[in-house]
Amino acid sequence: MSVNEPLPGTSDIWEPELSDWVLLENKAREIFSRYAYSELRTPIFERSEVFVRNLGSETDVVQKEMYSFNDRGGRNLTLRPEGTAGVMRAIANRGLNQGEEARVFYFGPMFRGERPAAGRRRQFHQVGVEAVGSDSPWMDAECIAMLTHFLRELGVSGSKVLINSRGLPEDREAVSHALKEYFRPKLPELCEDCQRRLENNVWRMLDCKNPACGQIALGAPKILDLLSETSQDFFKRTCDGLAELGVDYEVAPRMVRGLDYYIHTVFEVTHSGLGAQDALAGGGRYRITLPGDKRCHEGIGFAAGMERLLLARESLGLQSGAKPETDTYIVSLGEAAVAAGLRLAGELRQLGLGGRVKADLSARSMKAQMRSANREGAGIVLILGEDEIARAQVSCRNMRSGEQVLLPRVELHDWLKKQ
Ligand code: HAM
Repeated sequence: MSVNEPLPGTSDIWEPELSDWVLLENKAREIFSRYAYSELRTPIFERSEVFVRNLGSETDVVQKEMYSFNDRGGRNLTLRPEGTAGVMRAIANRGLNQGEEARVFYFGPMFRGERPAAGRRRQFHQVGVEAVGSDSPWMDAECIAMLTHFLRELGVSGSKVLINSRGLPEDREAVSHALKEYFRPKLPELCEDCQRRLENNVWRMLDCKNPACGQIALGAPKILDLLSETSQDFFKRTCDGLAELGVDYEVAPRMVRGLDYYIHTVFEVTHSGLGAQDALAGGGRYRITLPGDKRCHEGIGFAAGMERLLLARESLGLQSGAKPETDTYIVSLGEAAVAAGLRLAGELRQLGLGGRVKADLSARSMKAQMRSANREGAGIVLILGEDEIARAQVSCRNMRSGEQVLLPRVELHDWLKKQ
């Protein structure tokens, strides 16, 4: 690996791909604003406690994937592995009055020390939303509907919405007990991770990616059947809401999601164009507690991986246009002409004429500068030599038609407008 290559699992993002990222961000802004969400930007690093406490100390993210470090003040900090915990910290810091709601969306880089693969990065980007302050299942249904609306607007067809419930914290013990009873006798057939999970995180045994474990999990008791009446009712009302809002979904009885903060609704959107890492987005309802704050904060939200959204679009043939090219290239012949070329470029940019304008500062030969103009795909070339400057003229060439005219400077603006 060359020293200039980005680290494994990270990338430099160049044009023309970058214009797809901007399209994603703009679409997210447009659609989420229609649902009365506002943008929020939180820091890229937080006190580690913000994540450990809420994602769960036994989760893969906290156990194996966090980029944590001590700063010079001895504080233990972590590069955010996800957006929800930081957003909730920010909302709690601002304060939310009784009965008040906060609806925010965000984008940005997240960091997880995973084994890099197609669609699995160490620095990846999420676009996410969080709605805090409503305990209505309608909110869950609307949040999922908003995600499907966003995907539709991006042209990402063929995705699947999977939904399940994790119930309330009061339901956990009964579910864990039933799952342990089921898995314990099968322990020798399960992978090492699952053997450890039996005591630490038995729920995660339901969605282990190991094929042998997956097969055994098929026979496990269904979480939904073990939940209290209150939780089952919440789930039913969420499903009714989805039907009301016209969202197609499937119940996925073994889906638990990898983070501990979830209660009630959990969901994922998968896409077949993604290969093994087929989760385009994931989310759910959650409860979060923050350092120095005894209250629980409840919200519902989701995050979609931006790299994966772009991969899904790519699998559908929806890639971006070409790299933006220079529109107007100013060739300046001789040192004195370079200054005139720069002044002309400045004038056109102020007036918004000539599109993307570039003045060649190299004072190279006409031939060399024309070669560069061609390479950059310039549609218009303006040539300033000693004669042109002395006579207040400019040579103008339309590279597409091949037409070249020598114009008085005062006529240049009109000529450009006609091209
Ligand atoms: P998550 O399922 O961990 O949920 O991540 C959400 C999405 O981020 C995934 O569906 C996937 O598209 C993308 N993603 C995750 N890890 C990687 C990776 N290593 N490389 C590329 N893409 C990745 C959360 O992060 C929750 N905070 C979602 C949420 C918001 N729940 C409630 N509110």
